[in-house]
This record gives sequence, C-alpha cells and structure tokens, in this order.
Amino acid sequence: MSTTILGIESSCDDTSAAVIRDGYLLSNVIANQQIHVEYGGVVPELASRSHQQNIIPVVEAAMKKAGLNKNEIDAVAFTRGPGLLGSLLVGTSFAKGFSLSRQIPLIEVNHLQGHILSLFIKEEGIEKNLPNFPFLCLLVSGGHSQIIVVKNHLDMEIIGQTIDDAAGEAFDKCAKVIGLPYPGGPVVDKYAESGNPDAIQFSKPRIAGLDYSFSGLKTSFLYHIRDELKKDENYIENNMSDLCASLQKTIIDILMGKLRRAVKETGIKEIGIAGGVSANSGLRKTLLEDAEKHCWKLHIPHVKFTTDNAAMIAITGYFKYKAGIFSSQDVSPLARWNI
Ligand code: KG4
Ligand code: ZN
Repeated sequence: MSTTILGIESSCDDTSAAVIRDGYLLSNVIANQQIHVEYGGVVPELASRSHQQNIIPVVEAAMKKAGLNKNEIDAVAFTRGPGLLGSLLVGTSFAKGFSLSRQIPLIEVNHLQGHILSLFIKEEGIEKNLPNFPFLCLLVSGGHSQIIVVKNHLDMEIIGQTIDDAAGEAFDKCAKVIGLPYPGGPVVDKYAESGNPDAIQFSKPRIAGLDYSFSGLKTSFLYHIRDELKKDENYIENNMSDLCASLQKTIIDILMGKLRRAVKETGIKEIGIAGGVSANSGLRKTLLEDAEKHCWKLHIPHVKFTTDNAAMIAITGYFKYKAGIFSSQDVSPLARWNI
C-alpha cells in the first residue's frame, strides 16, 4: 500500500505545500513573499499575514499539481520550528485543522531536519544516489550553520555550529552594506562570477573545534567599505564584482575549513550539503574539487530543494510516518528547536 504525505512549510517568508508519495515528489508549490524586498529583510508581522493569505491557495495548487484529492492524503506534516512564531502558527493551525477534519495523523517536523532529509527526495525519471549512513551534512542557511553527523533518517548529532551569525546572514548583511537587495546570497553569487576572489582579504575567525563564527567577517567587510569610500565615493560600484567574489571566497574558506576538519576527526567521507547557502555556486565548485582530491562521496541537492520548501517537510513526515511518530492536537510551534 502506498503512503501519501502532505507537507506544509511556513517558518519564515515562504509559504509552501508539497505532496510526497512513497518518497517520490508529486508536487512542491512555493509562494515567495516579495513584500520583504523593499524592507531589506523579513518583517515578521507582514510574513504571518502573507502566510495567512497564501496557505489555502498554495495547498490547493499542490493538491491539483499532484493530481490527488484530499481523501488520498494519509498524513499531514508541518514545520513546528525553528522559525518566526507568527509564521509557524499559520502552518501549524492549518495542519491541525486538516488532520482533524480528515481524521488523519498530524506530524510535526523540525525545519533543520527537513533541510537535511531533502537529500532523500526522489523524483520520477531522475536517477539519484541517496546518502548512506552515517554521513556528514553541512547545513548552511539564513539562520543556521552546522556540521551534523546524520546517523539515520531521524537520528542526527550536531558536532559544530555557529556561535553568532549564520553563513546566510553573513551573505545577506554584507550584501545590504553594498546596497544589494534581500536576500543578498544569490545576488552576491551572481556578481562573484565575474570578480577576482583574491582581490580583497577579509578577516577570518579563529574559533576552536568545529564551531563557526561569522560576525567578525561582517565587521571587517563594513570597515573595509567605510575606509575605501573615504578615498573613492564610487568604490562600491567600481568594485562590485571583486567585493562579492572576495566575500564569497572568505565565507567558503571558513565553511570548508571546518568541514575538512570534521572529515578528519570523524573519518566519515560521505558528505551532504543542505540549506539556502548550499545553492551557492562557488561552494558547490569547491566541494566538488575537495571530493575529487580527498575521495569524498558527495551529495549535492538540486537547487530547488536548497531554500525553504515543503517537499523537505513532506519527506521528513514520510520517514516519521513509517516510524509511527505522530503529534497530538495540543502541539504548539517552537521558535527555537535544535535537531
Ligand atoms: O534555507 P533558507 O531558504 O532559509 C532559512 O532557513 O534560513 O536560506 C536562506 C538563505 C539566505 O541567507 C540567502 O541569502 C541564502 O540562503 N542563499 C544563498 C544563495 N541562495 C540562497 N547564499 C549564497 N549563495 C546563493 N546562491
Ligand atoms: Zn530553511
């Protein structure tokens, strides 16, 4: 018998619904909230209001695209956290209502676990090698930068994480300093293509163990811009590509330094990446080079599964459904929630 899961994601500024049947993706619909661009970042109040407007049409579109009707859904999975509370409340309330009215199980999903398990989403007609356990996952998003030992679908251990800003935050905050729109990561990636990554040296953190830090880089970037603008008021426009390429290289160097160390310390040579920053073309290229050099087995997700989406929530729901792990109707969202 087949198992069909409806997934709901509303942790930040994207409203998404997806349907997964037996691990295969049937649909994944995402409504991006453009409203935040003019504010240079996500405005929580506006995000929850947009989720409220988007959630029903997005779910209907996902059902239609999957070619299913509601009584063919076996369980509904939703992001319980971490994320913005007002945003999470919309998806949580919707999932509760859906589960109650259809009399089907409700499954809470940790958003970070979802990012990692996106590596297991299968698509009809697309050949893909799924990761073997244990593997290391570099999870890099707007809110998190972690190195995780993935022991099983539902058993994961964080062995390194940021002590301040996340990698995505470093991209976004530095991009804002040079007048680029939010989210800055993809725009920096684009400019970096034509820039010199060694043009400018920014400071790198010296943090013990496998932990990360990105707040020093942000300050170093800010001071560099401030000093150069004193000499040339058009410094940013004249050096945009080099600035972006050098910033991107510094972030990649920081991420890769600790990942290489984690491989050495754990002896695990199977690596996955996940989260919005894993869409970065420079990071992907560096990983491929390292994999070749050090004989790593690499799992790089399709770009559409790197930023927030409900397919990753549905696949996690699928594994929890198989393990018989369900939630009760009194579950409430968690703004903070570790894997
Ligand atoms: O995973 P995600 O969609 O949301 C969170 O859970 O945080 O990640 C969003 C982050 C943003 O900081 C965005 O700038 C970054 O992912 N991002 C990128 C790229 N695409 C998205 N960063 C660098 N290069 C990219 N191509
Ligand atoms: Zn995310």
